[in-house]
Amino acid sequence: MRGERLDKILARLGLGSRKEAARLVRAGKVRVLGQVVRDPGFRLPEGAEVEVEGKPLEVRRHHHVLLHKPRGFVTSRAEGPSVYALLEGFPTRDLSPVGRLDKDAEGLLLFTTDGELLHRLTHPRHKVEKRYLVHLERPVGPEDVEAFREGILLYGEKTLPAELYPLEDPTWAEVVLREGRFHQVKRMFQARDNRVLYLKRLSLGPLGLGDLPPGKARFLTEEEEKALYAAVGLLP
Ligand code: URA
Repeated sequence: MRGERLDKILARLGLGSRKEAARLVRAGKVRVLGQVVRDPGFRLPEGAEVEVEGKPLEVRRHHHVLLHKPRGFVTSRAEGPSVYALLEGFPTRDLSPVGRLDKDAEGLLLFTTDGELLHRLTHPRHKVEKRYLVHLERPVGPEDVEAFREGILLYGEKTLPAELYPLEDPTWAEVVLREGRFHQVKRMFQARDNRVLYLKRLSLGPLGLGDLPPGKARFLTEEEEKALYAAVGLLP
């Protein structure tokens, strides 16, 4: 397989626009496997070492960024305030969100440049678990737990079986879903004559927020990346 263009890779890694990256290459500032390469269209062999101005560059085909989304931000480029405003310094151009969080929801939001990974993480076939913490208008009871386990009828279609775990104060609960329909958590509680007052996504498959503060983002670690790909039957 032919590798990707050098200027494109450099741009994706945050070294500027494609034009700026090409300029760096033409200026002789970029070495591949120790040799200066001046052609921005040079096809980088898989795994080849790259140095920019003498510093080694980690060449990754894909990026995955974990954001702790605060309330008040929209999962969209077009509307504001946009979650992309919280990703400054990351290669945002090619990053797409894995599912969405509503403006008034907070928690774990993953972005990736890998379309196949995104597809698999969001497709119900792969049953990737998403865990939410919710605060509700009314307490939840055993009938709600049973109804979630059965699947809830939303606009004529039953959801996949979901888990509902009431907490000590039963107006608080954790919910585990294996699919992600539009406003799904809110709509499931609505169908039970309840209302979500607060919603936070705690985890996505093997990924958790750890101690990442609200409003902050970071790249996945190598271990997280491996676990995430393994969860959907892919290799990183
Ligand atoms: N379900 C919802 O209702 N909203 C979200 O943001 C995520 C899941």
